[in-house]
Amino acid sequence: MATQYSKWQCISVFKVPMKSKLKFLGVMPGSDYRIFLSCYGLFCYFVDFTYLSGLEEDLKDSLFGQHIVSDVVLKAVTSFMTDSNPNKPLVLSFHGTTGVGKNHVAKIIARNVYKKGIQSKHIHTYISEHHFPHRKKLDLYSAQLKQWIRGNVSSSPRSMFIFDEMDKMQPQLIDVIKPFLDYNARVDGVPQKLEAVYLFVYSNASGNVIAEVALDFWREGKDREELWMNSKELETKILQNIFNNKNSGFLHSSIIDHHLVDHYILFLPLELKHVRQCVMAEMLHLNMTQDYDLADRVARNLPFFPEEEKIFAVKGCKSVRQKLVLYVD
Ligand SMILES: Nc1ncnc2c1ncn2[C@@H]1O[C@H](COP(=O)(O)OP(=O)(O)O)[C@@H](O)[C@H]1O
Ligand SMILES: [Mg+2]
Repeated sequence: MATQYSKWQCISVFKVPMKSKLKFLGVMPGSDYRIFLSCYGLFCYFVDFTYLSGLEEDLKDSLFGQHIVSDVVLKAVTSFMTDSNPNKPLVLSFHGTTGVGKNHVAKIIARNVYKKGIQSKHIHTYISEHHFPHRKKLDLYSAQLKQWIRGNVSSSPRSMFIFDEMDKMQPQLIDVIKPFLDYNARVDGVPQKLEAVYLFVYSNASGNVIAEVALDFWREGKDREELWMNSKELETKILQNIFNNKNSGFLHSSIIDHHLVDHYILFLPLELKHVRQCVMAEMLHLNMTQDYDLADRVARNLPFFPEEEKIFAVKGCKSVRQKLVLYVD
């Protein structure tokens, strides 16, 4: 969103002695980060045009119906990014059905950390079936993946790796990623830098578990906002679900067993009012005048489940833009 730039303000300037904590920052003027560093004389000035205030506002303005996500992402990303000496990379695992904002949130994080957002050269996205399609080439993929992660983390420690379609990720490849995620990670005996962010995006199975829990909640007449990570032992349910995945259960569970994932982030299914908000946002995006009645019509024409009550949008806000353009003359 182009307008976003004007909202940022410089909230903090730190002055640090030249040789102190600079090495780990590795952030220089003109880089792709939203933080920069200038050195004059004996001091370096670490200027933070902060993504911190930007991230909170961005989540508030552009993410609908995901109170758990907003809260956890804001706290986790902010505290990790301001920790100059983390003891482990940040590992977030996103769960939810299709179109509820998992990739959208990855983009929101990206654009608040890197000037070029998701286009930044520090962001590496892997989509299982796209990047690693052939089972026969698993050995080659494994070697490449290890080399890519290792090379990127060592040349730019504040890299971000997004693994989409994790449900379909081959166990052998998960095994490659695992050592990079650990406390004081070592790969082939070599210590790795620990400032990177890893996002794992899961859809189908665990998304359905969340949808079921959300539906039960709705049927009990409870407010969606009361649903938190610890409601109904939701985390346990999600973990069991990943663990029971026939194809890759064991290795996914080994990420869990080793406590490599810092936060399991649950995306709730979206209701009519959230889809309406998505349509309104798309109107802005398409430079249209916002029209609530039209947004309502577009949203209501999308499929909802369960069959009887029609509470949640089957595909969340996915293809909302494509539907909207059909209503424009
Ligand atoms: N919770 C949400 N808030 C705002 N927009 C959303 C939300 N969920 C989805 N969208 C919109 O729908 C599009 C598709 O969502 P996406 O994040 O790709 O879904 P998925 O969860 O399948 O990764 C996004 O680009 C975004 O425009
Ligand atoms: Mg997606």
